[in-house]
Amino acid sequence: MPLHDTSKTSEFPDEAVYASTDLSVAMPKYKMPEHEHSARHAYQVVHDELMLDGNSRQNLATFCQTFAEPEIHQLMDECIDKNMIDKDEYPQTAEIEARCVNILADLWNSPEAGGGGTGCSTTGSSEAAMLGGMALKWRWREKMKKAGKPTDRPNMITGPVQICWHKFARYWDVELREIPLEEGRWLMNPEEVLKRCDENTIGVVPTLGVTFTCQYEPVKAVAEALDKLQADTGLDIPIHVDGASGGFLAPFCAPELEWDFRIPRVKSINTSGHKFGLAPLGCGWVIWREKQDLPEDLVFNVNYLGGNMPTFALNFSRPGGQIVAQYYNFLRLGKEGYRNIHTACYDTARYMAEEIGAMGPFEMIFDGDMKSGIPALAWKIKDGFDTRGYTLYDLADRLRSRGWQVPAYSMPANQESVVIQRILVRHGVSRDLASLLMDDMRRCLDWFVAHPVTSPLSEEEGGGYHH
Ligand SMILES: Cc1ncc(COP(=O)(O)O)c(C=O)c1O
Repeated sequence: MPLHDTSKTSEFPDEAVYASTDLSVAMPKYKMPEHEHSARHAYQVVHDELMLDGNSRQNLATFCQTFAEPEIHQLMDECIDKNMIDKDEYPQTAEIEARCVNILADLWNSPEAGGGGTGCSTTGSSEAAMLGGMALKWRWREKMKKAGKPTDRPNMITGPVQICWHKFARYWDVELREIPLEEGRWLMNPEEVLKRCDENTIGVVPTLGVTFTCQYEPVKAVAEALDKLQADTGLDIPIHVDGASGGFLAPFCAPELEWDFRIPRVKSINTSGHKFGLAPLGCGWVIWREKQDLPEDLVFNVNYLGGNMPTFALNFSRPGGQIVAQYYNFLRLGKEGYRNIHTACYDTARYMAEEIGAMGPFEMIFDGDMKSGIPALAWKIKDGFDTRGYTLYDLADRLRSRGWQVPAYSMPANQESVVIQRILVRHGVSRDLASLLMDDMRRCLDWFVAHPVTSPLSEEEGGGYHH
């Protein structure tokens, strides 16, 4: 039977879809229609409207996956009706989630590796960051209460963080001590962290793959500085690593880099399965070093197959497919497959960095070095270079006319005057596509020479999504 067999009802005859009465008028947009429409017609209207979203594969702003193997599509379809919170009804999905937690605990060198692992899936790094942050706050509060000290002024220290940490701080009433940037220093460093520590610090959050410049923050150096602080003052401040991107990159492409549970002070790590974990959108993970690092009163215990399935989440119902697809990737790719895919992305990032660097007007800020950041590149206009009018916002706008989304944005405090542009190289941004983008970029620069920009775009007009 065809997908939409409309032939049996005279109300929805099998006519050419665009000649139908439904599609020869504009459909209602802001009020629910009074009457039913044929599935075929409604589908076509929605499908057509989505074309205006642009092509996700050309979206080089996002860190999230825009390519998936057919088997992932198939598994997602098979799981469309599975609610991952129903551990009793879907015990095998629950088992698969627990295995993924084990696999990540092992990948990140948890002392619990092999024997379990403490953690859970989330909808992404934002939810995972909330859970990691809450655990830090709860543990700090417990400690302060025991010492008979006030618990009303918690703070957290970060470098230039993704917006999820601003949300965490505001929603959970924690003062965010975000280290301001300086010319040429785009990351946190141990000295700046130490300046901000006190007994109300619930934790330090370095990012493995800073959203703005894509670089890794120095987790080990910060941990060593905090070790010394503890030896000198007794202050014992834990680290949570935001590994939204880096958590799925460093283990394969920079295995010697110590940033994970090899460092005893690292108590928890979040990552996005839907970024370099290669899972479809809606998948994140948070793992604690050991069971005692996750305060018990945050965990709701759900009985499951005679065992005990702890749940810690902001949501209740959630689709199970993303978790299943994550597990598929683990099996399908193994460490070798992840390394191959990510290495190809780093190579393409470096290729583009060289091309863009050779164009003349640009200075690279990050060139896709796999030891120090994620497969991405970021650049700015060289100091003193006369563009004769155009800004990076104009360049982003011009590239958009060919469908490319390459965001330009200003840096956070105290470097707001620096505007940079960034490309994320994900699975599916092939060398071939990259070379076409480079051709288009050169064409844009020629265009600006032939048609000088007299009224450049401002950040408000031209600043794109970049988180
Ligand atoms: C460093 C970092 N943390 C957190 C997030 C938020 O992740 P998610 O979109 O998975 O919620 C991002 C997203 O880009 C990020 O880059």
